[in-house]
Amino acid sequence: MNSLIIFQKAEDCLQDATDFLEQGRYEASVNRAYYSIFHCIQVLLWIENIHTKSHEGAHNQFRLKYIKTGIFPLDSNVWLQKSYEKRRFSDYDYDDIISEEANESVENAKNFFNITYQFLSQNSHLSMNYIKAFAPATVANVACGFDIFGFALDEPGDIVELRKRDMPGIIIKDIIGDEGRLPREPERNAVSVVMLKFLEHIGSQQGIEVTLHKNMPLGSGMGSSSASSVVGIFAINELLGRPLTQRELLPFAMEGERIACGAAHADNVGPALLGGFVVIRSYSPLDVFKVKVPDELFCTLVHPDVEVNTKDARYILRNEVSLKNTISQMGNVAGLIAGLMQEDYDLVSRSMVDVIIEPVRSILIPEFDHVKQAALDSGALGCSISGAGPSMFALSRGRDTAERVAKTMSEAFGSVGITTKSYVSQINQQGPKVLETA
Ligand code: HSE
Repeated sequence: MNSLIIFQKAEDCLQDATDFLEQGRYEASVNRAYYSIFHCIQVLLWIENIHTKSHEGAHNQFRLKYIKTGIFPLDSNVWLQKSYEKRRFSDYDYDDIISEEANESVENAKNFFNITYQFLSQNSHLSMNYIKAFAPATVANVACGFDIFGFALDEPGDIVELRKRDMPGIIIKDIIGDEGRLPREPERNAVSVVMLKFLEHIGSQQGIEVTLHKNMPLGSGMGSSSASSVVGIFAINELLGRPLTQRELLPFAMEGERIACGAAHADNVGPALLGGFVVIRSYSPLDVFKVKVPDELFCTLVHPDVEVNTKDARYILRNEVSLKNTISQMGNVAGLIAGLMQEDYDLVSRSMVDVIIEPVRSILIPEFDHVKQAALDSGALGCSISGAGPSMFALSRGRDTAERVAKTMSEAFGSVGITTKSYVSQINQQGPKVLETA
């Protein structure tokens, strides 16, 4: 289903209503006229990602989003109300609908359809040829949750521009900001692999030209490849009228991770796509959910100017884990989630401990212990490796503390001559977003 298909239904219903009116079938005409308005409303809610379960629910959301805000004229509410009442009357009352009433219903539906058409085309919802979209960086693992925890940041993030082309096939027109290191062949780049799989899945031959703006370094532990996969899959889905839901896009984004680092883990793509703090309860079957986090929780992300390849950082991990460490890790996993949900900062702090992965991987990050201690000394709740590293993250209560932590962590790296770039951000609840369409 997509917005164009729903809008087509609105048009079909309007045509039926007009035909029935001409044939003197007034009840049927009134019924179809109302459904034309209803499908218009459904498109208007669909583009806002609002899904309702009843007709009244849809009417109320429409009034809230479009009438109260002045986007649609007050008259449109009258057209809706009258046509809904007439349809109910014709469905449940056995008195005949007279021709004047049917005429009025069809007129109202035509008016509603026309202003909806105007609104959709002015806002490029009917014939989108171009889209520019953003997907955020992410912190995966979050200390104790290797491959199962991740959250999204406000910045940085990757940006993609997609333009429809007449010939089938995907071409990468340009990649900006990767210093020429990423593959330009569509079958080898995460941003386009996800699109190829998507097009195959929906059975589309649509040609697409891709420009990718890499706004974070490769091998940084900031979810660089996942931002590309997510922005790619999100943008193509929007460009083609949103045939899949955001959640349905997740397996496609995971395929991008497989191309980029050999493992289809979801702890970066999950939060980059869905926003917020995400838990991957199970990979087979895929079971992903979001956890509410306190508003005052801030993340400091510090990227030292060294590179760690995710494939290598996964390769050095041991396959066996002792029972003792498993017990510790499970306690911390449970504690971190409970701490976040209950806004118990002390519990969050006590639970940000990783006895399995951090001891092995931290050797790849120069000055790890020193930097971590600096974060804790300046008030962070906890500090660990972001994803596969070398970036390190810390969680703090309040922006001021998070800013202070950023400064001391950067100084600690700087004390041995390593330059850094740091970011302070709340947990980004939105995930990817459309920046421009045409
Ligand atoms: N969970 C993954 C890992 C994240 O630690 O290898 C990679 O960014």
